[in-house]
Amino acid sequence: MKIAVLGYGTIGSGVVEAIETNRESIAKRAGKEIEVKYVLDLREFPGNPIEDILVHEFAPIAQDDEIECVVEAMGGVEPAYSYVKESLLRGKSVCTSNKELVAKHGAELLEIARQKKVNFLFEASVGGGIPIIRPLNQSLTADEIMEITGIVNGTTNYILTKMSREGATFENALKEAQELGYAERNPAADVEGYDAGRKLAILTSLAYGMQVDYEDIYMEGITKITDVDFKYAQAMGADIKLLATGKRTGDSFYAMVTPKLIRDDNPLYPVRGVFNSILVKGNLLGDVMFYGSGAGKLPTASAVVADVVDAAKHKGTNIMTIWSNKKLALSDRMDSESGFFVRVPEEEEETAKAVFAGLEEVRIPASSGVVGEFAFMTPKMSEREFAEKAVRLTVLNRIRAEWDAQ
Ligand code: HSE
Repeated sequence: MKIAVLGYGTIGSGVVEAIETNRESIAKRAGKEIEVKYVLDLREFPGNPIEDILVHEFAPIAQDDEIECVVEAMGGVEPAYSYVKESLLRGKSVCTSNKELVAKHGAELLEIARQKKVNFLFEASVGGGIPIIRPLNQSLTADEIMEITGIVNGTTNYILTKMSREGATFENALKEAQELGYAERNPAADVEGYDAGRKLAILTSLAYGMQVDYEDIYMEGITKITDVDFKYAQAMGADIKLLATGKRTGDSFYAMVTPKLIRDDNPLYPVRGVFNSILVKGNLLGDVMFYGSGAGKLPTASAVVADVVDAAKHKGTNIMTIWSNKKLALSDRMDSESGFFVRVPEEEEETAKAVFAGLEEVRIPASSGVVGEFAFMTPKMSEREFAEKAVRLTVLNRIRAEWDAQ
């Protein structure tokens, strides 16, 4: 099967390398040799073996009937969307790692693939190398999915782990994540929680079979988390993780991306560095958890190439995926509840105690060097109630917690 790879960045070059490295075993599994006939990129790569197959325009790929499968690893919505749509309309399967594209146009592209009896596959768009899309589509089909909670951004988990375990600064940890090829071109997408939001939109759309718009998801990143927060977390036997959560409560659906304090009895607690993990709760199965490298060249390429193998195995048949373009209305996040860990200036201790009845003080040893503050955990309350109360204080920071003051 002849394929084209669009984009020769971290993922695209990883796909070419993976196909080369595991050529024989991939051929066995796919039932045929996979050959990269074109690589599309605007740049030149002098001396690189792909030079001979490098093209700078999409047209020759679109018009070449020998190309049965297109790997899209360009990132961003345009021109990726136009190229992917044209490929599908011309009867070529598409495998992509592009979460932005899938979150925005997944339903439409899946429908075109269905009509054309080809496949639009996007395992690598969530959780890097972790199989999660295929399990949701094919293995967990007997269950109603009640909740999906995950660490789905490798860059932020890498930064938080470095800050928590090694006392690294945010800036240095981010720089390292960029050097390792984990971060997005514009790392704001990682640290502000947008990348995790897009991945959550994909997961919840697949879990509920309807369109969850990423713009409707409440997203809060990690830029306000400081070394002081980690000192308190440590004193509480907890860690801070950026969690993406989609939850169904009766007929209401919630979706949020926020930093959260979790304790060591939470299965996501030990997930460190670039690793991602996704915990799914089914109404029959109970909990099932997926774990692995969430970003990086070869882990992500591995998931893309597995999709290419699937495309080869399913030539002429569409693998059904339920994701209609009917919009799923999310409930107001102000109704969702949690405990809140809060830090205020020490002069506000009495006001805090009056405002948040039943709060639990959080103390850290003097050796921590943190002075002049009063920190506490609130009882469980809605986001609305917390916001109404917090305006009466000078909140230095507040982080949602999976437990609360009892
Ligand atoms: N920037 C993304 C992350 C890449 O850090 O998870 C993988 O989607």
